[in-house]
Amino acid sequence: MLQRATSRPQGHLHWRSGAAAGEVWRLRRDVMDAPVKETTAQKAERLKLERNPWAILPDIVRYARHGFDSIAPDDLNLRFRWWGLYTQGDGRGALGGAAPFFMARIRIPNGFLFAHQVRTIADLAERYARGVADVTVRQNVQLHWLRIEDVPDVLYTLWRAGLTTIGACGDVTRNLVGCPLAGVDREEICDASPILLQANRMLAGNPEFSNLPRKYKIGITGCRRWCSSPEINDIGLTGIAHPATGEIGFSARVGGGLSTHPHFGVRLPAFVRWSQALAVVRGITEIFRDSGVLREHRDRARLKYLFVGHGWTAETFLEELTRRIGFALDPDVPETPPPDVYRDHVGIHAQKQDGLCSAGFAILRGRMTVQDIRTVADLADRYGDGSVRLTTMQNVVILNIAAARTPALAQEAAGAGLRLEGSPFWRGTIACTGSEFCKLAVAETKGFARWLVEALEERVPDFDTNLKIHIAGCPNDCGQHWIADVGLQGAKAKVNGQMVDAYDVFLGGGLGAEPQFARRVSVRLAAADVPDTLARLLRIYLDGRRIGESFHAFCRRHTDAELKAHLQPARVGAEAPGAA
Ligand code: HEM
Ligand code: HEM
Ligand code: SF4
Repeated sequence: MLQRATSRPQGHLHWRSGAAAGEVWRLRRDVMDAPVKETTAQKAERLKLERNPWAILPDIVRYARHGFDSIAPDDLNLRFRWWGLYTQGDGRGALGGAAPFFMARIRIPNGFLFAHQVRTIADLAERYARGVADVTVRQNVQLHWLRIEDVPDVLYTLWRAGLTTIGACGDVTRNLVGCPLAGVDREEICDASPILLQANRMLAGNPEFSNLPRKYKIGITGCRRWCSSPEINDIGLTGIAHPATGEIGFSARVGGGLSTHPHFGVRLPAFVRWSQALAVVRGITEIFRDSGVLREHRDRARLKYLFVGHGWTAETFLEELTRRIGFALDPDVPETPPPDVYRDHVGIHAQKQDGLCSAGFAILRGRMTVQDIRTVADLADRYGDGSVRLTTMQNVVILNIAAARTPALAQEAAGAGLRLEGSPFWRGTIACTGSEFCKLAVAETKGFARWLVEALEERVPDFDTNLKIHIAGCPNDCGQHWIADVGLQGAKAKVNGQMVDAYDVFLGGGLGAEPQFARRVSVRLAAADVPDTLARLLRIYLDGRRIGESFHAFCRRHTDAELKAHLQPARVGAEAPGAA
């Protein structure tokens, strides 16, 4: 099976496994003479081989001089992504048209920032991005509304501040996610951020890894709660203390991912020592890069498809990994996954450093104004040591605040409109980009999220437990609806003859000890019907839950049909309810 998975694809493209750096980019006759009728995958593979997308910076600068229309389509639609640049739509999502604007995703490994960098982001947002920036679920920041003319200044300004957009999009290692409290969390097993930052240096911008079959996501954390969701990354390393020796190392999971076919990472039967972690990350990445079989279809190109479609198992993967890295890993040891991964880092918490605290702000759906961003930088400088961290729940944390000064901080933050607390709905709701800027979107998400949160706060003010409400504008699931208590996936429905935004409902997802993807309960709600319908379901939960029963457990105890029965809209909004 291993043989099959690493064998060369049929057809005109011959991906050479194990090609050395530099060799990969030689222009190849067979590639250049591509047949007219290419598949999407063949075209992407040809373009990536023709030119390393990380080599087009001079062209980007030239395009900036010559304007949007001068941009070669292959650069615009593919290679720009390697620079974190994505075209954005005209605000009408998949139904809309092209617009001469870009989104730039700033890559922020482990979500680590310092105040001066935060100010740089605020300045750029003010100058070019119409005054807003979005914190994303991979600890990135996105700027929208950039014109090509603005892009060089954005890139250079970021570089001067020690920031980059390199590899934030495209078929490369995306931003590496980790625990935002790494190094300060009282309960952490280890501070894994040094490994994460080294892995980032090894992979981001490195021509050896500039052409992967598809996007590639890594999460590395030493915290006990796995707050950065390692299970849904292509590689998830989680800190573990060896039960016999106490040695600190990692468990490794491979092949996690969401989108249309969600898959939890498969745990490898190995204990990865601290000193082996980088070699393991590199080896896994090489396996992915050299799996030619994954390059045949764009929608089956993620690492998970080795397990789903090509018969790989944890054991065969480890075998291949051992061959790659050239040494054997120690046998695996028992681990204790966290009970659940709700951990939004919101509020003031004591750090492991005596007398110091972290303060987490709940940023609803990650959207920040220039004013918010500058306030965060100022508070970080004046109350802490300038450290700022972004979280995978689209929130922001500042660190190293003297405990005695936290009341003053809380007061000042409140005065500036930043929340150190919030309702479960405010804290637990995240949303992807949606039709406002994303051309693939079927529905709007960010504005809807805000409206929904306010409506639920009004309808269920006594809701007293954590709840993850994740909203994605389409099945690609950038908003992670699969791992939410309540997942809403954008759709359309006909109401009174008009097509309106609607959402398919998914319930009971969660990670940790009992991981489960949210169940599609075959209910599609028109946007206007969502608050009342969800409020009724939440009321049924509050009234019917057993002692200590979470919403996740409550959903598990009920069948799809029972949950569906609780989700009928009061007024029948959608003419044709029921999922596509
Ligand atoms: C009709 C064809 C073209 C016209 C009218 C044109 C015009 C211009 C103009 C007006 C500038 C700005 C000069 C300045 O303000 O410094 C410029 C810059 C530049 N052009 Fe062109 N150009 C053309 C074709 C090309 C082509 C085919 C290339 C390369 C393949 C190219 C590469 C560049 C580069 C590298 C710059 C400098 C950008 C920079 O670093 O500032 N141009 N061009
Ligand atoms: C123009 C198109 C797209 C836009 C604007 C977009 C936007 C985003 C954003 C804002 C995030 C948040 C995390 C981050 O910073 O990386 C994200 C993550 C994600 N994207 Fe997209 N995306 C696009 C296309 C796609 C496509 C085509 C797929 C699937 C085939 C996809 C699947 C995902 C998934 C599963 C995540 C989950 C977050 C995670 O991995 O932790 N996206 N995307
Ligand atoms: S989930 Fe869909 S709508 Fe949302 S950002 Fe991703 S591709 Fe766009």
